[in-house]
Amino acid sequence: MKIALIGYGKMGRMIEQIARDQGHAIAVIVDPFAGNTADGIPVSKTIAEANFDSADAAIEFTVPATACENITALAQRKIPVVVGTTGWHDKLDEVRKVVEAEDSALLWSSNFSIGVNLFYRIAWHAAELFNKFNEYDIGGFEAHHNKKLDSPSGTAKTLAEGALSRIDRKKKIVWDTLNRKPSEDELHFPSLRIGSVPGTHSLFFDSQADTIEITHTARNREGFASGAVLAAQWLTAKKRRGVFTIDDMLKEYV
Ligand SMILES: NC(=O)c1ccc[n+]([C@@H]2O[C@H](COP(=O)([O-])OP(=O)(O)OC[C@H]3O[C@@H](n4cnc5c(N)ncnc54)[C@H](O)[C@@H]3O)[C@@H](O)[C@H]2O)c1
Repeated sequence: MKIALIGYGKMGRMIEQIARDQGHAIAVIVDPFAGNTADGIPVSKTIAEANFDSADAAIEFTVPATACENITALAQRKIPVVVGTTGWHDKLDEVRKVVEAEDSALLWSSNFSIGVNLFYRIAWHAAELFNKFNEYDIGGFEAHHNKKLDSPSGTAKTLAEGALSRIDRKKKIVWDTLNRKPSEDELHFPSLRIGSVPGTHSLFFDSQADTIEITHTARNREGFASGAVLAAQWLTAKKRRGVFTIDDMLKEYV
């Protein structure tokens, strides 16, 4: 597979390394701040300037402000795209219309780690069990490096919203600082930004007698990168068209 990398920051570079290790090639890099690469891969500042002739798929990890524009530009060129950028999902309906109108393909996820996606399932099954036992309160937190632009993380939203929908006594999530006691129907899920943490997400079930803590700790960015490359292969293998999430891909495994 030949991959166009949209965004050549921490994730773009990790994807390049993982893709090459797996025998794929990089067709082009698009990043306004990337310099020339040592091995002559063409680098463009914008999608409009880039040549996608040899690209089978694009993988987009940029910044929230530009993701929708990038997806639109790629859809217009019929380049299937895997999008890992977070912080734009409130515009998903608009983006879906564009991708479908252009008969192109998009697979998005707020977390491409296979481990995290299996962790969701474990945590949500736990929420279903604790739903039956009112003595347990439920909450969580997430921690990320201090360069992250959005909070809460997309992963935290997916995790906490999935838990909320399974606990009848909880009606809403509170993400922010509470300068009061939480009410019984609130699920508190704050964010911590510190150092270079690649991503930690925890869900707690707490009673007077005990605490059950379910945590996923990313050690580095490799898990996200290999999941994104796998998603690009899944999207291109059957020339899929439409809008997908990582769940659509995982259904073929679990
Ligand atoms: N879904 C996941 O699994 C997952 C995992 C890690 C990070 N992320 C998200 O991916 C995004 C990128 O993360 P990162 O750690 O690589 O960030 P980063 O800051 O290291 O890199 C972002 C890159 O995007 C480039 N960029 C900005 N505007 C651009 C544009 N218009 N076109 C092309 N490139 C552009 C920047 O120059 C920079 O090099 C963030 O939103 C982050 O939250 C998602």
